[in-house]
Amino acid sequence: MGDYVDRGYHSIETLLLLLLLKARYPDRITLLRGNHESRQITQVYGFYDECYRKYGTANVWRLCTELFDYMPLSAIVDEDVFCVHGGLSPQLMQVEEIKMLDRKQEVPHEGPMSDLLWSDPDADVDGWANSQRGAGFVFGAAPSKQFNALNGLTLIARAHQLVMEGYKSMFDDNCCTVWSAPNYCYRCGNVASILEVGDAPGMSRNVVLFGAAPVESRGHLAKHPPPEYFL
Ligand SMILES: [Fe+2]
Repeated sequence: MGDYVDRGYHSIETLLLLLLLKARYPDRITLLRGNHESRQITQVYGFYDECYRKYGTANVWRLCTELFDYMPLSAIVDEDVFCVHGGLSPQLMQVEEIKMLDRKQEVPHEGPMSDLLWSDPDADVDGWANSQRGAGFVFGAAPSKQFNALNGLTLIARAHQLVMEGYKSMFDDNCCTVWSAPNYCYRCGNVASILEVGDAPGMSRNVVLFGAAPVESRGHLAKHPPPEYFL
């Protein structure tokens, strides 16, 4: 569910592994776009620098960012679980409207495409509110339940926000955050999760929690926390 880059010393390796898996098992993996799969964001948060450092040129970064434009913005698992990096957009309450977006472009600063990649759920908000991130919106229980009901879905699964426990359910299980980076940025101490879903609507869901691999097994770089801007 996006943000494969910008968050550690191995963005290029992480992305390439995912792309290899996509090439090898095209029907078994879907790579959604996160707000960091963007030309502008990766120039600020590290992926550009990493590519330049490892390859001595910006070509690999440029090719990767061209590829980002082709990543889908959302996906539906088994006609039941809506997956997206950030969250909902007030302009996209029907899945059909998402399908009509011209998404093969750099992530815009605002608008529906940007919202999907930047928005956050918030239990203190009733409907919609502006986001302190400066992009996307904050959305509450009502739009979440409305979106699911309108589209015949039961859950919005998203990422985008660190959850110390790895997984967080909200709005009577209408929305959840799946955070899959353990010990985020080598220092947060959080656990991570993946969400397993059954293969029929309403079937059982299972949250699998996992922690970080021991530092000794991860190469010398993991022992040196990265710059603050990762956080
Ligand atoms: Fe994100």
